[in-house]
Amino acid sequence: MSGAVRVLAPGKVNLYLAVGPVDVSGYHPLATVFQALDIADDVVARPASGLRLEMLGSSLPVGESNLAIRAARALAAHAGIEPRAAIEITKRIPVAGGMAGGSADAAGTLVALDALWGLATPGHELMEIAATLGADVPFILVGGTALGTRRGDLITPLEAAGDYAWVLITQDEGHSTPGAFRAFDAAAPPGLPQPEVGADFLAMIAVGDVAGVLRESRNDLAEICLANHAGARAAAAACEALGVPWIVSGSGPTIAALATGDPESLRGELAARLPGAICLIAHGPGPGARIV
Ligand code: C5P
Repeated sequence: MSGAVRVLAPGKVNLYLAVGPVDVSGYHPLATVFQALDIADDVVARPASGLRLEMLGSSLPVGESNLAIRAARALAAHAGIEPRAAIEITKRIPVAGGMAGGSADAAGTLVALDALWGLATPGHELMEIAATLGADVPFILVGGTALGTRRGDLITPLEAAGDYAWVLITQDEGHSTPGAFRAFDAAAPPGLPQPEVGADFLAMIAVGDVAGVLRESRNDLAEICLANHAGARAAAAACEALGVPWIVSGSGPTIAALATGDPESLRGELAARLPGAICLIAHGPGPGARIV
C-alpha cells in the first residue's frame, strides 16, 4: 500500500434529459446529454486498518448508506480484498441539487481506492461497478460531454466543441430524485415513447453551437422541479427577467444560467435579484474523476 491518493470528482449538468416510461424495475429509460463541470468534490484516500469516512463541509451521514462507503465495499468485493482505507471527502458540489454530488463521491472513491490498493481495475470493469452504485456514477468516471442511455448509465462519449460558462443557482432545500420520477409517472400520458436525443441536437453539441444547445435543450423533469420548488421558480424568473438562457440541472432544484458575457457580473446580477440564494460560477465541459 502506498501513501495518500487525492481525486477530484466533478459535478454535472444535463444539457438534455428525455425520460421514457417506467419499467418493471422502477427505473426509467433515459436519453440524456451530460456535461461535467469544474466544480468537484475532493476525495482523499489513505491507508488504514478498517474502513472510515469523514465528510468535510457537509453534515451528510457517513455510515453504510453513504455512496462512498458503498463504492469502497463494491470495489473491494470485486477485487476479493478487505476494504481498508480512511476516506476524506470535501464537498463542493451542492448536495441534492441534481448535480450528481453523491455520484461524484462514489466515482471519486472508486478511482482513489483503485490506486491506493494498486488494483489497476480495467476501465470497463470500473464502469460496471459504477453502474451498480447509481445511474450517474459511470458518467462521472468519464466526464467531458457524453450521451447517457439505458438508465443514464450506458455512456457514449460525444464529440463536443465550445465552452460553457454557467452561474449555478443552488437551493438550501434539496430535491428527491425518486420523488421527481414518481411525479413524472403520475403526470405521464399513456403510450409515452422511448426517449432519444435527436441528431440535430448532437450536431449542435459537436460544433459548439452553445446558443442553439440552450434553445433546444429539453428536461422532462424540469416542470416537476419548478412546480415543487419556489426557490427554483424564483431563480428561473430572475434568468427570464435578465434574458439569460437557463436549464434545470437533472431533477433539480439547481438552475444553471448560461453566462454569455462576464460570468462574474451575471453572478452579481442574479445574486442581487435572489437574496439568500448561493450562486456559483462553473465551466464545462471538464474532465471526469481523476487523480491529482
Ligand atoms: O441510480 P440512482 O440511485 O442515482 O437513482 C436514484 C433514483 O432515481 C432511483 O431509485 C429511481 O427512483 C430514480 N431513477 C429512475 N430512472 C433512472 C434513474 C434514476 O427512476 N434512469
